[in-house]
Amino acid sequence: MKAEQHIFLVGFMGCGKSTVGRLLAHRLARPFIDLDGEIEEAAGRSIARIFAEDGEAAFRRLESRALGQVAGRPPAVVALGGGAFCQSGNRKKVAESGSSLWLQAPVEILLQRVGGDQGRPLAQDEERFRSLYRSRLDDYRKADFHLPTQGLSPAQVADAALRALDI
Ligand code: S3P
Repeated sequence: MKAEQHIFLVGFMGCGKSTVGRLLAHRLARPFIDLDGEIEEAAGRSIARIFAEDGEAAFRRLESRALGQVAGRPPAVVALGGGAFCQSGNRKKVAESGSSLWLQAPVEILLQRVGGDQGRPLAQDEERFRSLYRSRLDDYRKADFHLPTQGLSPAQVADAALRALDI
C-alpha cells in the first residue's frame, strides 16, 4: 500500500468501521474521517433527517459528493457508510484513492448491535436488514482486503488491518 493513499473501511452497519477506523488512524498518526459525519456536516442535518425529508436517493447523491471531496484530501483512514461501497462510481473513487478493507461480521451480531437504532433508517426492520445484508455481500467482496471480525476486539481488528496492509 502506498503511504500517500487513503485506507477505506467498508462493511455493513454495525461492523465496527468507525470504532476500528479511529484506532487505526491513531496507530498510523493519520486523520480519521467518518463519511456519514461529513455528509451531516455538509447538509447541516442528521442522516435520519436527510432520509426522512429527502429520501434515500438524495442521501446517496450527497454520499457520493462527500466521498469525492474526501478522496482529494491528505491520506486518512476513512469509514464509509454501509451502502457507499455498493455503488460502482463510489468503488471507482475508492480504488483510485486508496485501499479498501471489508470488516466482515455475521448478520446476527450486526442486528444485535444496531437493529432498531433510531439514527440508522435502514436498520429499523429486521427482514429488510437481513435482505439488504445478503444483497450487499457481492459488493463487499470487491474490497481489496477481507477481515473477519467475529470474536475479535476492535484493537485486534486494527492489528489485523495493519498486517493486511503490510504497514
Ligand atoms: C447506511 C449505513 C449508515 C448510513 C446510512 C445508510 C447503509 O452508515 O450511511 O444510514 O445504507 O447501510 P453505517 O454503516 O455507519 O451505519
